[in-house]
Amino acid sequence: MEIVYWIIVALGYSISVYAIGYAFVVGLSFFNDVPYVPLERKAIKFAVECLELSKGDRFIDIGSGDGRVVRYVSGKYPRLKSCTGIDNSRALWLYSKVASLFYGRRVNFLREDAFKHEYGKYNKVFLYLTPNMMDKIIKVLIEQLPKGSRIVSSYFGTKPDRKKYSLQEKKSNINGKIRSFYILTKY
Ligand SMILES: C[S@@+](CC[C@H](N)C(=O)[O-])C[C@H]1O[C@@H](n2cnc3c(N)ncnc32)[C@H](O)[C@@H]1O
Repeated sequence: MEIVYWIIVALGYSISVYAIGYAFVVGLSFFNDVPYVPLERKAIKFAVECLELSKGDRFIDIGSGDGRVVRYVSGKYPRLKSCTGIDNSRALWLYSKVASLFYGRRVNFLREDAFKHEYGKYNKVFLYLTPNMMDKIIKVLIEQLPKGSRIVSSYFGTKPDRKKYSLQEKKSNINGKIRSFYILTKY
């Protein structure tokens, strides 16, 4: 019986350490211009469907937070050519790296400023950012991504630019709220 007691204590202790560590990592991100706010599971599923991923695609989540979107995509689409997350927060990058160690699939996490990365090799992009950062990063993406690339932004849209990309809005009920998802396809 004593062993059961110690297992429960060890489990409780591990869960508390994990919860405090996670809260600390999330708290730190509020010093960033764009804080870490994870997207709801249902919204991730819908946004990823809008990306129409298929074998050989190169996927990136810009501002990947704790890496949940990258892990979800790599689990659902194991035949992608690459599956990458980029975040400028050291703590979230470290968390994503450690979480993916136990995950067992090939995913790639980079700690870098999204504005300094080179996007020419990706063709499917996931965004969940503030409107201000979105407008700026879309300009960079539209310059660098190959033709036909698809970008899906959750909840925040951008100005249409008919010369450079098509813009489509899809709506979905996410936990009782009607939310918009914006799909950009580069010409
Ligand atoms: C709203 S969270 C999105 C998290 C994740 N994509 C999700 O959907 O659950 C935005 C993320 O962008 C990151 N971020 C903010 N500015 C950035 C920058 N300049 N370069 C890279 N990442 C950035 C933040 O650290 C944060 O984790």
